[in-house]
Amino acid sequence: MSVLRKDFLWGGAVAANQCEGAWNLDGKGASVSDMCTNGSHKTPKRVTRTIEPDTLYPSHEAIDFYHHYEEDIALFAEMGFKCFRTSINWTRIFPTGEETEPNEKGLEFYDRLFDCCKKHGIEPLVTISHYELPYNLVEKYNGWEGRELIELFERYCHVLFERYKDKVKYWLTFNEINAGTMPFGAVLSTGTIKGFEGPVNKVPDKPQERYQALHHQFVASARVIKYAHEHYPQFKMGNMICFVLSYPMTCKPDDVLLNQEHMREVNWYCSDVQVRGEYPSFAQSIWDKYSVKLKIEDGDLEDLKAGTIDFYTFSYYMTNCISANPENEKSDGNLIAGLKNPYLKASDWGWQIDPQGLRFALNEIYDRYHIPLMVVENGLGAYDEIEEDGSINDSYRIDYLRQHIEEMKKAVSEGVDLMGYTPWGCIDLVSASTGEMAKRYGFIFVEKYDDGTGTLARRKKKSFDWYRNVIKTNGEEL
Ligand code: BG6
Repeated sequence: MSVLRKDFLWGGAVAANQCEGAWNLDGKGASVSDMCTNGSHKTPKRVTRTIEPDTLYPSHEAIDFYHHYEEDIALFAEMGFKCFRTSINWTRIFPTGEETEPNEKGLEFYDRLFDCCKKHGIEPLVTISHYELPYNLVEKYNGWEGRELIELFERYCHVLFERYKDKVKYWLTFNEINAGTMPFGAVLSTGTIKGFEGPVNKVPDKPQERYQALHHQFVASARVIKYAHEHYPQFKMGNMICFVLSYPMTCKPDDVLLNQEHMREVNWYCSDVQVRGEYPSFAQSIWDKYSVKLKIEDGDLEDLKAGTIDFYTFSYYMTNCISANPENEKSDGNLIAGLKNPYLKASDWGWQIDPQGLRFALNEIYDRYHIPLMVVENGLGAYDEIEEDGSINDSYRIDYLRQHIEEMKKAVSEGVDLMGYTPWGCIDLVSASTGEMAKRYGFIFVEKYDDGTGTLARRKKKSFDWYRNVIKTNGEEL
């Protein structure tokens, strides 16, 4: 008997900007992701303020999910998906973010997509904002630093809720909202890059703007959650955290304390607000550290209290170490770098692989909040090759996923209430950090390459059949 629930939500996850393409079709406007060029592990992608001719913008075509979704969802169904996490491209619905009436053609696309999921018995899990902020709002308001965005987001959500109330039950307000606690988050998450042009690693860090923007995201999220609870009691409203687990490099108390500070800042700060409805006791110490003076308006704290989430979701890819000694060797990571852990191996992009860390994370999060959890991103970004016979033998990906699922099951046996698991990039898509196609996560290979060429044909990888059996046996056969 599986330790996992009978109705465990097995599936996969993508984001609209990384797979849909059709970036300016049917009335869609430009999002911040549409202004990012391609890059690689070595060469950072760039943000441009206007579209440069002869420059490759990977989101513009991506894997053209916009026109291939039926074929792709059918493949997900063949694997037995119960759930599909995707996002809505804000600029398909409100091209500049400021219109008063939504774009009907954009709404119709998601009608078709959700109907297709339904036809296959797949439950959509929808992220409302996943790195798809209308670029107009970046240039006009410095992204989420502008308080105006709260109302614009509310308008957008109200339209989505009413339109899809019979098709979507599970909603996440912001992808990896804690990206705003990290410098890299300024580009894709808070959009606090008004006037900026250049490589993403050269964005000047302005914590005052990031934290103010985050405050506005918290208020916006809480307000729409409250609204959803009042008007659509059937909805389940969640948050989404990029859970970046870190360990103290040594048992030296300096390292332990520094790690605690780091964990609070990058992980707990955001989820404490969203689960408990108030800023944590240590918030002031973070604001002081960065000389942040937060503008909190009347009613904001009440809004936070009134709009808490029903379930906690997170991404988990890697872990890092933290040390008070600056001499230690650095490691790469998702959104934020750290130090090398001598006990772990890393992916080709330097993300340290740590399945046991997932068990640790699940237990830590559940101990803290006691609400249902869901792992909505996890996976191995790797170079895949098509063999001469046309097969793609991604046994390294199977190993990665198997080990993580094993640890996830252990956490469930230890009492964690886990609703589901949707590995990232269930079909190959554009990498968020580098803009590459070469960093592949999928069970399905897409013939699309970094120079923009490729037939867009889909092929099953070895992991496709493996995952189908995992789902069929509810995680018993790994
Ligand atoms: C998460 C994001 O940070 O990690 C995704 O929510 C992203 O959008 C994923 O794609 C993997 O990161 P990357 O940089 O390998 O695409």
